[in-house]
Amino acid sequence: MEKLWTGRFTKALDAEVNDFNSSIRFDSRMYRQDIEGSVAHAAMLGKQGIITPDEAELIQKTLKEIRAEIDAGTLAIDPAAEDIHSFVEAELTARIGDAGRKLHTARSRNDQVAVDIRLYLRDRIDTIRELIAALCEEILTLAEKNRAVIMPGYTHLQRAQPITFGHQLMAYEMMFLRDLDRLGDCRKRMNVSPLGSCALAGTGFDTDRYYEAQLLGFDGISENSIDGVSDRDHIIELASALSTVMMHLSRFSEEIILWCSWEFKFIELDDAYSTGSSIMPQKKNPDIAELVRGKTGRVYGDLVSILTVMKGIPLAYNKDMQEDKEGVFDACDTAEQCLRVFTPMLATMRVIEKNMRSAAAKGFINATDCADYLVTKGLPFRTAYKITGEIVGFCVENGKTLEELTLEEYRTFCDKFDADLFGAIDMEVCVAKRTSAGGAAPAAVDKEIAWAKDRLKELIDKY
Ligand code: ARG
Repeated sequence: MEKLWTGRFTKALDAEVNDFNSSIRFDSRMYRQDIEGSVAHAAMLGKQGIITPDEAELIQKTLKEIRAEIDAGTLAIDPAAEDIHSFVEAELTARIGDAGRKLHTARSRNDQVAVDIRLYLRDRIDTIRELIAALCEEILTLAEKNRAVIMPGYTHLQRAQPITFGHQLMAYEMMFLRDLDRLGDCRKRMNVSPLGSCALAGTGFDTDRYYEAQLLGFDGISENSIDGVSDRDHIIELASALSTVMMHLSRFSEEIILWCSWEFKFIELDDAYSTGSSIMPQKKNPDIAELVRGKTGRVYGDLVSILTVMKGIPLAYNKDMQEDKEGVFDACDTAEQCLRVFTPMLATMRVIEKNMRSAAAKGFINATDCADYLVTKGLPFRTAYKITGEIVGFCVENGKTLEELTLEEYRTFCDKFDADLFGAIDMEVCVAKRTSAGGAAPAAVDKEIAWAKDRLKELIDKY
């Protein structure tokens, strides 16, 4: 296929260099956006009288035919083309001759590629946001169901204080709500049109950049033509937002992996979301959660590679920037794929309440409540803390829990203890009294759920 830039060259590109230089392998996935951008550009050229209305009409009609044929699989994208922009223009020109040759007036491939990727990623963000919103809905359903299911809360992976499973789930809800917001914000900043920046300096033709931006659904234009073709912030922001989504999914996956181990057995994953071992017949492995955790690494890699590509290149376009696409495509593909399996895995898991409850009975997770009790009897917290620590030490030595000690035994540590202590360290009571805003009590979790439902709706409507 003839290059777009043949005029000043006397030799064809070396075959291996041709391969090295080409991006068609990965940018052909933007063919619809490339055509959409060209249709808008042709419409603008026609409106401004830079080409005739008939030519504009013919270009748009033919471009739409090309798109329909690629969609239908009747026109194959030529793998020998340098990139998707060259392919579409060559195909157009092959069909309509000189009218096709006029399309590139007042634009450059630099602004084409910048437009295409914004249009393409904008759609990917919309899909990923829908998937995150569905995950948020699922977590809300689960949290409602488990609002009063007691489990230990952990710090340092050591049992720490009593919470409910609903409360723990709502922590993830908050992370994914922030992800929704972040991605919406990223989309907003991405949604400006670089089209008409041309190679870098704008053009002397009487173009209307606002008009083509509007046709493409952009909220505005890039205000500096050099920045228009040099800026890849939106790609970095998206890769970063997706890295954060993956980090959240990965932490959640890690807990799911722990929870379905025999040591915890807080949950059981559905057979449709688990795998077996080739040798150990008893095994049921959480491969899906492990893969989500593992794939987080590659999305981070995508982010770091884009950041590194961009860090040393002078203005304006440099070919290095062709390396921006594979990473961000991979980040989108990976995050989307993970979300598609993660939500149904969560929705189908079985919660084993009694194991959560019995884990909460061990490990002295009501020790803070015992200290708090002494505070209500007039002791300073630090003193109450020390006495309770000594009691825990005694329990550990004697193989007992706080509930199992007698009042007499308690009184050997401090005479402020009374019979009402046992009510105060009862697990249900310990959870129910944590009613501070955002706390573990079912009543507080209910409020959190109500807040999150409103927030979810607001975030969906906002962007
Ligand atoms: N394939 C190129 C890319 O992805 C398109 C832009 C080419 N521009 C240029 N001046 N060579 O970045």
